[in-house]
Order: sequence, then C-alpha cells, then structure tokens
Amino acid sequence: MSVGGPIERVWPAPVTGPLTDPELAALYGRARHPHLRVNFVASADGAVTLDGYSAGLSGEPDKRVFGLLRMLCDGLVVAAGTLRHEGYRAVRLGEARRAWRREQGLAEYPTLVVVSGSLDLDPAQACFADAPVRPLVLTGGAAEPPPGLTEVADLVRCCGERVDLAAGLAELRRRGLGQLLCEGGPHLFGALTAADLVDELCLTVAPLLAGAGPGRITAGDASPPRHLPLRHVLAAAGGVLMLRYARDPGGPPPAGAAPAA
Ligand SMILES: NC(=O)c1ccc[n+]([C@@H]2O[C@H](COP(=O)([O-])OP(=O)(O)OC[C@H]3O[C@@H](n4cnc5c(N)ncnc54)[C@H](OP(=O)(O)O)[C@@H]3O)[C@@H](O)[C@H]2O)c1
Repeated sequence: MSVGGPIERVWPAPVTGPLTDPELAALYGRARHPHLRVNFVASADGAVTLDGYSAGLSGEPDKRVFGLLRMLCDGLVVAAGTLRHEGYRAVRLGEARRAWRREQGLAEYPTLVVVSGSLDLDPAQACFADAPVRPLVLTGGAAEPPPGLTEVADLVRCCGERVDLAAGLAELRRRGLGQLLCEGGPHLFGALTAADLVDELCLTVAPLLAGAGPGRITAGDASPPRHLPLRHVLAAAGGVLMLRYARDPGGPPPAGAAPAA
C-alpha cells in the first residue's frame, strides 16, 4: 500500500495528527445504497490540467486518496477522452488493498467502465489488454467497435447516439456495480451533473495558480446548479486541500476494517 505525506482533517471536527489509511478509508467509505462518486484534482484558480495533463496538479496526498477511492469502488467509470489522453493503464491494486476488498466480500479489483459514443478505442491500450477484470464499454446503439475490442471488453449498448447515462448507470448497478467512482473527464462530469446523477464530488485543490487557458473540471452544455453540501475538509503538507461534497447528510457509513497504513 502506498503511504503518502501526512493528511489531517481540519473540518468539521479537527483531528489531531495524521490520518492512517484505515481512518481515511472510513472517512470516505462505501454507501449502503447505489452511489456515484466523482474525483478530480484542480488548481486553486480552477484549472483541470497543467501543461495539458492532470499529473502536474497532483502529488503524494492526492495520489493516496485517489488509490483509496479506487479500493472502495465496484466500478471505475472513465470517459473515453480522458482514457485516450491520459493513456490509462490497467486498474491495479496492491496486495493490502486487494486483501481488504476480499475481507469486505468484494471482487479483488474494481471493473473499469469506459464511456464512449464513437468507440474510437484501442484494444491494445493497457487498460484493456492488461486488465485484471474484463472492462465494460458503455456506448450508444450505433457505433461499430474497432477490430479486437470485443475480445478484450464487453460492450453495453444504451440506445441513441450518445449514452443515456441514467440508463447506463442503472445497467451497471444491475450488474452488481453499486458503488461507482468516476475519474472524469470534464465532459462526462458535465453530462452526469446535467442528468443529476452525481451523489458526491471529491476534489483535491492544489495550491497553485495555473493561469488562464485550461478548462474547468466540468464542460459541455449548461445545466441547472445542483446543491452539494460540504462534508469534510482534509489538509495535507504543502497546503493541499481535499474536499468532499455529498448529497447524503450523514455521508457513507464507515468502510469497516481497512488495510493497515
Ligand atoms: N484534473 C483531473 O482530475 C482530470 C480528470 C480527468 C481528466 N482530466 C483532463 O480532462 C481532459 C479530457 O477531458 P474532456 O472533457 O476533453 O473529455 P472526457 O470527458 O474525458 O471525454 C469525452 C469523451 O467521453 C465520451 N463521452 C462522454 N460522455 C458521453 C456520453 N454521454 N455518451 C457517449 N460518450 C460520452 C465521448 O467519447 P468518444 O469521443 O469516444 O465518443 C467523449 O468524446 C484531459 O486533458 C485530461 O487530462 C483531468
């Protein structure tokens, strides 16, 4: 298990001293009901990328929570744009995190779920070719898969040219993927917000001004604002903030025994 720099809770009730991985996992937790959590990192002035990628905004604390959120989910939902651009690799977890999942009665790895209308996907990309669990591709009714894609992934067709995201998420839940973590990108997040499907946003704020140019964490057509109350604020060395916003007033229940830090 990766151990990042110290992370402390500063709100609502400050916790003195660094949080262990089990404490962090319990703070984020798994909901008892179907739940869609979205995770992003942004600069203090709202940029979603630095030099075109998210990596420049991230750091040890963000990577630590990023990995824990993967451990907690059943399905890891990523839009095709981010998958292609960021060169997604296979979703892997260390032994301690896999052991924790086994103890919870979960599959050893979460299932990667790619959202794509065009099916412009490369079956040789490591996220497909090396996947420990066969990925799912949520797509519309029309696009033809490229050669080899159906050998490495299962297509889930939702009617229409674009994916009907409500129907798509319902189908994922029907397949046992109740706890979903979406890692973006902005167009998918914008569409999920517009469809009022987002239960939670985990946002890491990096202490830097990226300046004008990069987009925000959300993109696409305008939609009505959605109220999403703040549930906790964590702070890490160097002034990194980790904010958790969620609809559920109590937040998810504790995740139970989590792996040792
Ligand atoms: N800071 C962060 O935490 C973070 C996180 C993620 C991404 N990013 C950055 O965000 C950028 C990419 O984001 P983006 O907004 O351009 O793209 P995106 O949201 O990652 O992907 C857009 C693509 O996803 C597919 N898609 C999304 N919604 C769909 C729907 N309802 N039905 C069918 N297909 C759908 C389409 O794929 P097809 O084209 O295949 O049809 C669409 O072109 C990159 O620069 C990446 O580095 C940053």
